[in-house]
Amino acid sequence: MTGELELLRDQAEAELGKAGSEEEIQAIRTRYLGRKGLLTGLLRNIAHVAPEDRPGFGKECNELKEAISSKVDQVLDRLVSSQREQAILREQIDVTLPGRAVRQGRLHPVTQIRDEICRIFAGLGFSVVEGPEIELDYYNFEALNIPKDHPARDMQDTFYVEDNIVLRTHTSPVQVRIMEKTRPPVRILSPGRVYRRDSDVSHTPMFHQIEGLLVDRGVSFGDLKGVLTVFLRQMFGDDTALRFRPSFFPFTEPSAEVDIRCVMCSGRGCRVCGQSGWLEILGSGMVDPEVFKNVGYDPEEFTGFAFGLGLERIAMLKFGISDIRLFFENDLRFLEQF
Ligand code: FA5
Ligand code: MG
Repeated sequence: MTGELELLRDQAEAELGKAGSEEEIQAIRTRYLGRKGLLTGLLRNIAHVAPEDRPGFGKECNELKEAISSKVDQVLDRLVSSQREQAILREQIDVTLPGRAVRQGRLHPVTQIRDEICRIFAGLGFSVVEGPEIELDYYNFEALNIPKDHPARDMQDTFYVEDNIVLRTHTSPVQVRIMEKTRPPVRILSPGRVYRRDSDVSHTPMFHQIEGLLVDRGVSFGDLKGVLTVFLRQMFGDDTALRFRPSFFPFTEPSAEVDIRCVMCSGRGCRVCGQSGWLEILGSGMVDPEVFKNVGYDPEEFTGFAFGLGLERIAMLKFGISDIRLFFENDLRFLEQF
């Protein structure tokens, strides 16, 4: 092999030895073997070689071409397979690493209580309906026999949106909306959010109520007591002591509030029940004839009862929680316990 060819071979090998990427290797192939490459350049100079040396020179050039070409292929192969190996190493999964625990979500305690109450009343033939949280003054107060400037409005401190629009202070407006568009018999349950300017360990500015309403011919106070007793026994257990206590609501007459024996102290008297041994959980009564007149029902023909209960209050009793505000802090350590 002539000195010039040997030089070219050594140079090509040295460059290939240093090449680190596919592009660099392909560039070397072009530089030596391409149409304008160094080796092709040499071959073109064959005219300057002595005629008797030309066949030998041509042969050596071709051998060198083969050699460089196969060296390039070899280096390229090696690069590709080492890249693949590295990729496999990078993607390797360490099965001995400890796993990340997936935390299980669950229903909010208030949602659980709501679902349970709806299930119990579904068994008694009640169907679930909903009403707006932003409510007209008319439905929240007026139609429920609480006229403007009536002192009864002091019972609930109200968030006013506009003069005639409020955030509903109870779920009772749903009674009116339903009766306006249905004829008796009516048997509905209406869960939802309500709002009052109120905040301490047993009151929050937003809380949940469930309204119940049953209207038909010949419905009596005995039916009210029967239905609520069945419900509360299913909710709190068969041996729960109940008390129906006379009360007042402008939209029911007569009215009663229902207490259950304090679940914290079993009636001995404690901080939660204010030493009385009893806890108020709902308001109820026979629908006032004035309300029937407002929705176009004849009070001589139909009677009915209604009730409204506070969901958080019931959840507190059921789960033994002493501060209502815990429900709305979204603290997972609290929520995960239910
Ligand atoms: C009413 O809201 C009546 N609409 C209930 C009613 C319906 C009576 C149908 C007759 C017929 P009251 O304001 O007492 O009544 O509220 C009912 C229940 O809501 C209470 O027993 C209590 O459990 C709950 N509650 C009242 N205020 C709050 C508050 N700020 N935070 C949490 N719960 C409350
Ligand atoms: Mg009350």
